[in-house]
Amino acid sequence: MLIDHYGRAITYLRMSITDRCNLRCAYCQPASGLDWIPDDQRLTKDDFIRLARVAAALGITKIRLTGGEPLVNPDILEITAQIAAIPGIEDLSLTSNAILLGKLAGPLADAGLKRVNISLDTLHPEKYRRVTRFGDFDQAWQGILAAEKAGLLPLKLNTVVVGGFNDDEIPELARLSIDHPWHIRFIELMPVANSQDWGGGFPPVDQRYVSVQTMHEKLADLSLVPEATPPNAGPERMFRIPGAAGTVGFIAPLGEHFCARCNRLRLTADGRLRSCLLVDKEISVRDALKSGADLKLFIQKAVEEKPRGHKLEEHNCPDSRCMSQIGG
Ligand code: GTP
Ligand code: 5AD
Ligand code: SF4
Repeated sequence: MLIDHYGRAITYLRMSITDRCNLRCAYCQPASGLDWIPDDQRLTKDDFIRLARVAAALGITKIRLTGGEPLVNPDILEITAQIAAIPGIEDLSLTSNAILLGKLAGPLADAGLKRVNISLDTLHPEKYRRVTRFGDFDQAWQGILAAEKAGLLPLKLNTVVVGGFNDDEIPELARLSIDHPWHIRFIELMPVANSQDWGGGFPPVDQRYVSVQTMHEKLADLSLVPEATPPNAGPERMFRIPGAAGTVGFIAPLGEHFCARCNRLRLTADGRLRSCLLVDKEISVRDALKSGADLKLFIQKAVEEKPRGHKLEEHNCPDSRCMSQIGG
């Protein structure tokens, strides 16, 4: 079992299996895009699988594949199948923008994937194009339906709330949970690498953050009832519209510090273990993977050095890597 300096059990590994993405969401990447990790610095499918095996042997039970967009990694099905077969991995999921799920949901389920979390920030095609810069809403929607059909459940939708862009859609998005057994999750915008002007008519930086409290106020008419928190729950707080098939959740990295219950470690696509999304400290395992060295020591060191929590309120935006380079 991996226990950090503050007594937190680390059981969840988020593996970014590519920094590439077929979209370029405004809160995630600059409009001009980012330099890709060079080929010689990217981990291979065998590296990811080997690291997952070592992590499982140390007590990791939950793995999430992230990106960029994990489905643009050409080895996604093999990575999924191999990791799903590792003894001790009870929950294998991925976070996707759904664009490629129409094609891949079935094969992923066959490969052993259990569930998906899908980024969807708006229900309006023209706004979808504006926030994702390249995306086609209908393609994403078909991907969501394909995931449901393939049994990748429970299906969670992630909406990053951006003031002046989609905060007016909160009730409309929440109402999706009435007829669909989906988890609609509203996320506070994190000030990660967001000092840039997003273009596209988005409001300036100081008007974009919407607190979870304000989101709740916008949903007052729906009389949300709190749901019991599942035992291995992450940062999300869950509610339900009375009688609804699905739930409504809130993730408040700024408004409500959940660092005290943080159970996760991250791996970037260029092979760095990162123990906090919002603190820039990383340990490279790439050379160790290439040389066949003992990876356990690296994972243990990353866990030992995991910070107590982030201090975003004090520092505002750490001028760090973008979300697509860390894995969200
Ligand atoms: P579940 O296993 O389904 O609960 O997934 P998850 O919420 O861990 O993963 P997902 O990739 O769907 O992330 C949802 C949102 O939570 C994203 O905006 C993430 O960036 C954010 N998030 C996930 N982990 C952390 C974390 O450790 N710290 C912070 N600050 N935000 C996180
Ligand atoms: N703030 C909050 N959430 C973000 N995500 C990406 N960038 C940000 C940000 N700046 C979310 C995506 C995806 C998840 C992995 O992280 O919407 O669902
Ligand atoms: Fe791609 Fe996800 Fe970043 Fe959007 S948030 S650009 S889908 S990595």
